[in-house]
Amino acid sequence: MPYAHITGWGVSVPQSVLTNDDIAKMVETNDEWIRSRTGIRERRIAAEDQFTSTLAVDAAIKALQVADLAPSELDLIIVTSSSPEYIFPATACLVQDQIGATKAGAFDLLAACTGFIFAVNMAAQSIRSGSIKNALIIGSETLSRFVNWKDRGTCILFGDGAGAFVLQASDVPGGVLSSVMHSDGSGADALTLLGGGARYPASEITVAEGKHFVQMDGKAVFRFATRVMGAATREALDLAHMTVEEIDWIIPHQANYRIIETAAKYLKAPIEKFIINVDRYGNTSTASIPIAAVEAVESGKLKGGNKVVFVGFGAGLTWGALVAEWTGPILQTKKKYSPPTQYRFFAYRFIARVRSWLLRAVRHIERILSRHEL
Ligand code: UT7
Repeated sequence: MPYAHITGWGVSVPQSVLTNDDIAKMVETNDEWIRSRTGIRERRIAAEDQFTSTLAVDAAIKALQVADLAPSELDLIIVTSSSPEYIFPATACLVQDQIGATKAGAFDLLAACTGFIFAVNMAAQSIRSGSIKNALIIGSETLSRFVNWKDRGTCILFGDGAGAFVLQASDVPGGVLSSVMHSDGSGADALTLLGGGARYPASEITVAEGKHFVQMDGKAVFRFATRVMGAATREALDLAHMTVEEIDWIIPHQANYRIIETAAKYLKAPIEKFIINVDRYGNTSTASIPIAAVEAVESGKLKGGNKVVFVGFGAGLTWGALVAEWTGPILQTKKKYSPPTQYRFFAYRFIARVRSWLLRAVRHIERILSRHEL
């Protein structure tokens, strides 16, 4: 049975920084309150011309470059997002088109902030079953578009960004070792975005009622998160027959420093074992775990051979954890001469654009011809 290795990673965060002091100009709050209650100092906000797919594509290309894998070699793309570009088509299909992943099946997975854990697990299981070889998983958010900037209980928390992993099959043991996924819909009303779906189709009334904004019972989510983070970590470790002591790093969903601190106490693990960057990005939902992971790689903390736990929770309610042995791009086989990576990926994107344009042109011509046939 092949193993599912994480062989590529990439992030994309918008340039624009929104500090706590900036938010204090919009609602009654202050830097001290936000930092002491959440650990957040600042977050990134997408520019007007940046969408969930824009950030996703950027992170995806970087991940494919690290894995040295051409988009055409992908079998599967899963985008997980709490702020998808549309209800449909899936953001994953927009990414598939823009990177030119000609033979990949692409779909979105909705499990709120736990989405990245669920999506990596789904891809890993597909690889383990032998049905696919190469998968691209992206968590991408432009949640700032769904935040009520007049609600101080939520607007201080969220930020925009994307992170991506490439998963590849190999006979070498390692990669994703175990995972657990949980849900409890009885807590569905604790964290919601109700407007625009089939129950509350967008209307003047839904807009007036603010149903197109994130709504949250912060205390309920906090209580739930502190209950499940440590327990899910332990469950996934038990499945992998490992202990917390054997783990090099824990990469949690970055929602609130205090939640991470509580998990550390529950697990009797030093806080230094946790990768934490909530101070600089806030809660980027599905993107928070891969963004933290990539920062850990780039800062030299997370290295090949390290054992790592990813653990998350979110709306639904959902929660889950995954244990992996970090691989790195060791699966690269020596290819015959090929141009430097950045040129190749520039060419891939250019070809993807031309291909997409040609396919649209063909569809347009077909539309005209079919009108004449009628
Ligand atoms: O991906 C999952 C996403 N969600 C989460 O992880 C959220 C989990 N929950 C939390 O992180 C915390 O519940 C919050 C940070 C959202 C809120 O912290 P809290 O300690 O639970 O505050 P609270 O809601 O109990 O409010 C305490 C007080 C209230 O005032 P009164 O009623 O005691 O006078 C709030 O009105 O703080 C007030 N408050 C604020 N004050 C200044 C609430 N938000 C703010 C604010 N600035 N931004």
